[in-house]
Amino acid sequence: MTPATSLFTPVEADLQILADNLTQLVGNRHPILYAAAEHLFGAGGKRIRPAIVLLISRATMLEQDITPRHRRLAEITEMIHTASLVHDDVVDESNVRRGVPTVHSLFGNRIAVLAGDFLFAQSSWYLANLDNLDVVKLLSEVIMDLAAGEIQQGLNRFDTNLSTETYLKKSYYKTASLIANSSKAAGLLSEVSQKSAENLYNYGKHLGLAFQIVDDILDFTGSTDTLGKPAGSDLKSGNLTAPVLFALEEQPYLEVLIEREFAQEGDLEQAIGLILDSQGIQKARELAAHHAKASAEHIATLEPSEPRQALINMTDYVLSRLY
Ligand code: IPE
Ligand code: IPE
Ligand code: MG
Ligand code: MG
Repeated sequence: MTPATSLFTPVEADLQILADNLTQLVGNRHPILYAAAEHLFGAGGKRIRPAIVLLISRATMLEQDITPRHRRLAEITEMIHTASLVHDDVVDESNVRRGVPTVHSLFGNRIAVLAGDFLFAQSSWYLANLDNLDVVKLLSEVIMDLAAGEIQQGLNRFDTNLSTETYLKKSYYKTASLIANSSKAAGLLSEVSQKSAENLYNYGKHLGLAFQIVDDILDFTGSTDTLGKPAGSDLKSGNLTAPVLFALEEQPYLEVLIEREFAQEGDLEQAIGLILDSQGIQKARELAAHHAKASAEHIATLEPSEPRQALINMTDYVLSRLY
């Protein structure tokens, strides 16, 4: 059970079907790839992305039932997301995900890289089988964006000159692109107008940015237990996120500590102290709230319905994770 559960009420039955399908979709081509995928799909993911796709599907199909294509899109979205996590955990050398050991810590890096590739490839195949070229274009751009974001993050490690714009661009690539494009794709499958499709895209984009900023705050304020993944790892690995970028504006010594990559004993602890003593977390919260609000405004353009309300509530839920 996740805190988001009640938001998912209008699509609860749909999410159950999705859960049953996910592992099956990975197929049984190779026992190790299957085991790796099953391991992650069975663990405690919040399923936010497929829930959004399903809620949008329902909110844009008020007179009819959603189609098998809407369902498949939700499954593809979770598959792409999970693939990106498998690779992200290799890059971050992270040992826990969704409260269970990561694929690479169980099966080794080689298997993890291949399992991630396999999931990406498998999702592309299901994507192509939707037979909707516009949707294929949207989601294949996401797969490019995910890799671009991960590379950009790697190149910017420990760079205290990183601007908020560059940070947000990276966050778009790594996180918001998937939510934005899958939201729009769900609308396209319902044959909404071009204008509505753009609103759905912007809903997902701003929600995704808020979600990533909150995730970045939780890396400082959360615990490994509640997050189901290691807390406090972004700064240590030189990944400078919103709280750090804001803290740098008021704590010049933080720059020194980061630039020398925490080489001296106690550097990292001191840096965390400086960040917590600054307005960094507060300002990052405000930035997340700004994007959550923008997101809500874009979804409010849809016709009123229960699923639309759940999508609006989702923008509050994202911020509520901080409390
Ligand atoms: C983790 O996403 C990666 C980020 C974009 C921060 P989630 O927090 O949605 O991960 P799961 O799917 O619930 O594990
Ligand atoms: C988002 O960013 C991850 C991906 C989109 C792959 P993070 O690097 O912050 O994700 P976590 O914190 O490891 O879940
Ligand atoms: Mg990570
Ligand atoms: Mg994170």
